[in-house]
Amino acid sequence: MIESEEFTIDNRIVSASQTEEDAALERGLRPTTLSEYIGQDKVKENLAIYIEAAKRRGCALDHVLLYGPPGLGKTTLSGIIAREMGVNLRITTGPAIERPGDLAALLTNLAPGDVLFIDEIHRLSRAVEEILYPALEDHAIDIIVGKGPGARSLRVDLPEFTLVGATTRAGQLSAPLRDRFGIVLRLELYTPEQLSDIIRRSSEILGITCTLDGALELAGRSRGTPRIANRLLKRVRDFADVLGNGEITDVIARTALDRLEIDHLGLDSNDRRMLEMIIKGYGGGPVGLDTLAAALGEEAVTLEDVCEPFLMQLGFLSRTPRGRCATRLAYEHMGFPVPNQGTPGDDPAQMKLLDDA
Ligand code: ADE
Repeated sequence: MIESEEFTIDNRIVSASQTEEDAALERGLRPTTLSEYIGQDKVKENLAIYIEAAKRRGCALDHVLLYGPPGLGKTTLSGIIAREMGVNLRITTGPAIERPGDLAALLTNLAPGDVLFIDEIHRLSRAVEEILYPALEDHAIDIIVGKGPGARSLRVDLPEFTLVGATTRAGQLSAPLRDRFGIVLRLELYTPEQLSDIIRRSSEILGITCTLDGALELAGRSRGTPRIANRLLKRVRDFADVLGNGEITDVIARTALDRLEIDHLGLDSNDRRMLEMIIKGYGGGPVGLDTLAAALGEEAVTLEDVCEPFLMQLGFLSRTPRGRCATRLAYEHMGFPVPNQGTPGDDPAQMKLLDDA
């Protein structure tokens, strides 16, 4: 049987998940110092203090947890932390560390002060987490040598190091792991002005001419996410080269993004499908996430990680204990008449339920 390739939310152009192409693009565009890094001002200001303090004391930076929606620059920040501390960076992901031995190998190869970056840290197995606790607290790991009755536990000392953990879902971290991070930083979606600065910086590095208005048009449709902004920049450049003189103006950006079916707020056909399903299929909500995911043929996690943060930031979606609701703004954006009795997403009674939950 030939399987058809389905167009799911994760391979769409405004998905925040990283593709191979993004990885290559991002490597070339990544800022390497805090001063080059645009946006996330609170995070930057606090990090600068923690880094300076650790350097003055001559010790490793405390363990750092970075959390927030995908594509906002968590890997980039870990690189900046390592560089500002003047140490090496080792990068891995939660699912890649399959057995405790894999983590032991990584840890025993660190040099003093090094940064170990574990992306998707919420996906570490329990067995691996168990090894990590003494490593984080006592700079030592307990390795079991031998099998059966003769097995012994051997303590191996590690150098002082910094773990930088990144996750899109801080709520899924086990409490003991969460408690071992001294520094917890939440990354926020970027404003259009910040994204426009990022787009202009990327254009300069890639040798693309982009007007201020062109960058702002692109920024406004990048759903608060640098990864999406940089990806759209590459696509819009194609339109600028073929339909214009290579310069990305607001007209070119608008034409290109309209053709890509990304509307002026950055919603694509999948976001609109989700809102339409809540409004037309479920009377505006509340509808449970799993029900909604099944109705749309999508994964609940994808809706939760990719669509919802952005729709909530726009004020189009509200979460209540009984499910997701569309707000008046969503009805208006989608061109549906706002019900006389108001919309479930703006109902104070629903909000109260959430406060009580
Ligand atoms: N590229 C991606 N994210 C960035 C950021 N926050 N600052 C500068 N360039 C970036």
